[in-house]
Amino acid sequence: MGWTVDDMPSQEGRIAVVTGANIGLGLETTRALAQKGATVVMACRSKSRGEAARRQLLDEGLTGLDLLEMDLADLRSVERAIDVLSDQYGHLDLLLNNAGVMAPPRQLSPQGHELQFAVNHLGHMALTQGLLPLMASQTDARVVSVTSGAQYFGAIRWDDLSWAKGYDRYGAYGQSKLANVMFALELHNRLQSENSSVKSLAAHPGIARTNLQPAALASGGNRWEAMAYRLMDPLFQSAGMGALPQLHAATAASAQSGEHYGPSQLGGLRGSPGQCRIAPTALDPSKRQRLWDLSDQLIRA
Ligand SMILES: NC(=O)c1ccc[n+]([C@@H]2O[C@H](COP(=O)([O-])OP(=O)(O)OC[C@H]3O[C@@H](n4cnc5c(N)ncnc54)[C@H](OP(=O)(O)O)[C@@H]3O)[C@@H](O)[C@H]2O)c1
Repeated sequence: MGWTVDDMPSQEGRIAVVTGANIGLGLETTRALAQKGATVVMACRSKSRGEAARRQLLDEGLTGLDLLEMDLADLRSVERAIDVLSDQYGHLDLLLNNAGVMAPPRQLSPQGHELQFAVNHLGHMALTQGLLPLMASQTDARVVSVTSGAQYFGAIRWDDLSWAKGYDRYGAYGQSKLANVMFALELHNRLQSENSSVKSLAAHPGIARTNLQPAALASGGNRWEAMAYRLMDPLFQSAGMGALPQLHAATAASAQSGEHYGPSQLGGLRGSPGQCRIAPTALDPSKRQRLWDLSDQLIRA
């Protein structure tokens, strides 16, 4: 029997921020952390969807759930969220960079970046940079970046990060999810070189039944894509199982900074969490630093 929510240590007294907490893996992550006693700030882009999810968890008897409105596509919204969190909580123990969007038609964020790169990578990087000071003095503070098996086919388009030419919906998703694991490892290195005690880990869920694929189909899919998802359907695991790698990375005593967790069966598609392979590009320090510097410039522009 592999690692489950029952194996999670107590989170009493800890404060966690979960992005995209209203549905899917974020909701399961929130539920598990709250069950173990954490105060969870549910960071959601829609106040009404966030409040509905919070109500659902309160109706289950859980407590310690707060709501924060934040649109990761908009760096100004992320800045406002950082201010609110700094004012209201003063310190944080866990940051789960979970929210994500997959394969929409090409759209630009308010600051002019391709939507998936903006939401999945830039927004989370800006959020993390703003929240690290709140985590610095905490014991066992952790940042978990949620990536995907898409990192293995993803490539960084160094000269066209926003896909001005030849936009490919899944290519841009792969780029953003590769960026997530590159960010997690680069953050780990930077924290270590500053002698910070904050840990940075990455996790991916395999393939889990959430709103990610239906939303991708609804926004830009065709019948071939719908058929491919139908054929893959038996492989999908539950959202609860999909959330385990990120929960393991966030809470297991054995999980160390710089590690990457994912399902351990069927080539990383499903099963209990274990350490898993990292895309070669993310193992290249010069590429990680280049992405960090480029992203930093875009965030500060
Ligand atoms: N499910 C899988 O098979 C799978 C596989 C690999 C990786 N992942 C990764 O797992 C993570 C969680 O995805 P999921 O499967 O749980 O998908 P999901 O059910 O679609 O949930 C995605 C969450 O992200 C939020 N979100 C989207 N755009 C946002 C924005 N601009 N600002 C703030 N929040 C935003 C969504 O909010 P709304 O509800 O308001 O849209 C939702 O809460 C993602 O990073 C995804 O890339 C999932």
